[in-house]
Amino acid sequence: MESKITAIAVYAPEKRITNSYFQQFIDTNDEWIVSRTGIRERRFAADDEFTSDLCIKAAKNLAAENPEIALADVDFIIVSTTTADQVMPSTASQVQNGLGLTNTGALDIMSACSGFVYGLVLAKGLIAAGTHKKVLVFGAETLSKFTDFTDRTSCILFGDGAGVALVEPSEKARIFKVVTGSDGSHGKDLYLSQNNNIVNGEQIDANGKIHQNGKVVFKWAIQTVSSQIIKLLAINSMKLEELDWIILHSANMRILEGVANEINYPIDKMLSSIEYLGNTSSASIPLAFDIASKAGKIKQGNKVLMLGFGGGLTFSGVIVEI
Ligand code: UT7
Repeated sequence: MESKITAIAVYAPEKRITNSYFQQFIDTNDEWIVSRTGIRERRFAADDEFTSDLCIKAAKNLAAENPEIALADVDFIIVSTTTADQVMPSTASQVQNGLGLTNTGALDIMSACSGFVYGLVLAKGLIAAGTHKKVLVFGAETLSKFTDFTDRTSCILFGDGAGVALVEPSEKARIFKVVTGSDGSHGKDLYLSQNNNIVNGEQIDANGKIHQNGKVVFKWAIQTVSSQIIKLLAINSMKLEELDWIILHSANMRILEGVANEINYPIDKMLSSIEYLGNTSSASIPLAFDIASKAGKIKQGNKVLMLGFGGGLTFSGVIVEI
């Protein structure tokens, strides 16, 4: 059984945080943040607003924007998040309960910024296996609750938000072959831990905040993403020119520019959510999709390559026809 994405919707919290906010407590400025990252604003969830709340609001937006879709028939929920409400119960189970869905499986996945695409890969597999017919794939984060606001190299990057895709069976393939991968030897270069343990032979900081070795991840991202785009096209027997859009995880505008340069692809055909939403990890790809759809860029029949990369380090890529 083949599959397709039937709809995508999002939710971004109301609280807008401009770059000048950070000048109150760290040595930084708008010029540095915009020129080094492309970020002008990000949203922060309210103190009593958690990742499952953002997911529920995104799902309600999906239902409101697509009245023909009956959420009651959803039979599997996947939530990709590195900022779960808690370790147990899963965020997916909280979303299931919050939406009042009674006939669905629920599962969290933790592959950080590549997680939304990993979720699409799993949804495609569930539908191909014939076991499920209506899968909600969420990418959602409340990174602001796990940000180290004393670290100027990372705190200016992160924002909160959620996106959701509905994946259903299709007569013709509209979610094509995928790439997935992991390089755990770089685990210590991007982590969030509350366990005082050793990763890649090094003692990590168990303060429950995000730690990133920005330069190492930046270099790895440009190299890995560029080569995986080429591989993804090859396994689908497609050419770069056949793609209408590329949506990479919005980590840093300079990574998108580096990849566009490396693969010789026009930067204006790379969609992102970085400018006004920052780095929202799992949520960045559906957020970028939604911004571009609402701006009339992505149209029915378009071919879109989505590729997430991040903590693990991991990556996952897919080409879809909308
Ligand atoms: O989402 C998961 C995947 N994550 C990524 O892909 C992130 C990849 N990495 C990056 O995006 C970039 O490495 C960062 C945005 C995190 C950092 O940018 P950079 O160009 O690599 O900066 P840097 O760490 O090399 O720092 C350059 C300079 C340093 O000053 P000196 O040592 O040259 O005097 C930093 O101390 O910029 C300084 N700096 C800042 N200055 C003002 C670092 N952060 C700031 C800041 N404001 N917020």
